[in-house]
Amino acid sequence: MNQPLPTTLPAWQALQQHAAVIGRKHLRQLFADDPRRGETFALADVELYLDYSKQRVDADTLRLLRELALACHLPERTAAMFRGERINRTEDRAVLHVALRAPRGERIEVDGHDVVAEVHAVLDRMAAFAERVRSGEWRGHSGKPIRNVISIGIGGSDLGPVMAYEALRDYSRRDMTFRFVSNVDGTDFVEATRDLDAAETLFIVCSKTFTTLETLTNAHAARQWCIAALGNEQAVAKHFVAVSTNAAEVEKFGIDTAQMFGFWDWVGGRYSMDSAIGLSTMLAVGPDHFREMLAGFHAMDEHFRHAPYERNLPVLMGLLAIWNNNFLDAATVAVLPYEQYLKRFPAYLQQLTMESNGKRVTLDGTAVDYATGPIYWGEPGTNGQHSFYQLIHQGTRLVPCDFIGFAQTLNPLGEQHDLLMANLIAQGEALAFGKTTEEVRAAGTDAALAPHRTFPGNRPSSTILARRLTPRVLGSLIALYEHSVFVQGVIWNIDSFDQWGVELGKQLAKTTIAELTAADEPKLAHDSSTNTLIRRYRQLRDG
Ligand code: F6P
Repeated sequence: MNQPLPTTLPAWQALQQHAAVIGRKHLRQLFADDPRRGETFALADVELYLDYSKQRVDADTLRLLRELALACHLPERTAAMFRGERINRTEDRAVLHVALRAPRGERIEVDGHDVVAEVHAVLDRMAAFAERVRSGEWRGHSGKPIRNVISIGIGGSDLGPVMAYEALRDYSRRDMTFRFVSNVDGTDFVEATRDLDAAETLFIVCSKTFTTLETLTNAHAARQWCIAALGNEQAVAKHFVAVSTNAAEVEKFGIDTAQMFGFWDWVGGRYSMDSAIGLSTMLAVGPDHFREMLAGFHAMDEHFRHAPYERNLPVLMGLLAIWNNNFLDAATVAVLPYEQYLKRFPAYLQQLTMESNGKRVTLDGTAVDYATGPIYWGEPGTNGQHSFYQLIHQGTRLVPCDFIGFAQTLNPLGEQHDLLMANLIAQGEALAFGKTTEEVRAAGTDAALAPHRTFPGNRPSSTILARRLTPRVLGSLIALYEHSVFVQGVIWNIDSFDQWGVELGKQLAKTTIAELTAADEPKLAHDSSTNTLIRRYRQLRDG
């Protein structure tokens, strides 16, 4: 549906006026005004606890944000997604990652055709294959069992699997090696394979389109490496499987489609880690844990679909992101997992959030007159504290933070987990309340140093807490962010499911490759910077 720019809506304008009021209030005051704020501005559901009391909002802000969501037709747009409508308008596709985790027997239709049965058929094939590999029944070309799995893919065909493997490492087969190759930089492939025995190595080539330059280049390198080591083209059959929607290209590459695990055009790359793209995850943690993860995703899907907006975790997260981005002018979000196993979670979220919501026109092509997707970034705590937190505490920019932590560690080591979590909790407190110049002076700091040791506070953060990092909790956490991204995209009225912005660079690279590899000095017709870089590169390379 075409709709007016959100900035023209009364709900948006009411929020702008309200922002001027809230802008004058410090979090110290908001907490002083409501002594129970820390309990009431919090939500617990789907095994996650979200404390949003340290966001710069009050009850009016939340009410106005919910009104904005209604004015932007969030309920209708959500229902349309779950119904399988083609809400990815620029690619004319349904957006049904929620079908990937729908329980067996549920019906979700695309063009009158139930897709859940197909999803489970693929999951069953994946599980059977994973069991064969894990049990040693699947043998390599020379009869050895598989000990190493290398997943080749990029973007959504890599970041999710890498993140999930790292996140669920505690549940993974420790006697197997899992590696991921994504970069077209040959170093990635060479380093991933240098100490491996090809006879024990399985490659999973993951590409929705099976035409992506990086993935196909690495897959060809893998094929050569495998054949060179095993001395026979026939080896490919035992050492390569594919995950794709493009059977014709898979066959062309030389992988039998009997060894292909399919998915569908209604699964966006960055929403695909719970499809067959997650085959490496299933091989690592086993089919049961994989299904637990899917159950966690589904629990959040159900919550998102049915919980009233006052108690709806993804709606609340999405609306708070809108508030910080559009009304407090924060251009960025720091994601700070206090959990080493989530070390790749910020990188995964970067694609999910920025490829989805880094858009400058609305669904009908009108240029937006408001900021869309913020820049997501982060590092696991406590490492970030000794790096960039200085800027978050005392810099001139507003950086809203998402802290993520778990009450129980998977690796108890003395009191280290309490130490870790004490840091998480203390950081949120320091950001919100800061330290006034009076407090600094009262502690004996001399006048000249006092400004340097003052913390203004009033820096917003949310804290997500769960009991323990399990496959189920991981699924719920990812779905929380997926749906929060959707909520933001609906408010901004953009297409959160296309990614045309990656095309131009890819096209230009094709011309440039020809120019870099031409035997004779090529005739260059770029701008003077590009021409000079090409010439300089050729000279340095060949000189
Ligand atoms: O970077 C663009 C993109 O299309 C992503 O959206 C996608 O996840 C990635 O490339 C990989 O694409 P494919 O799975 O088709 O190789």
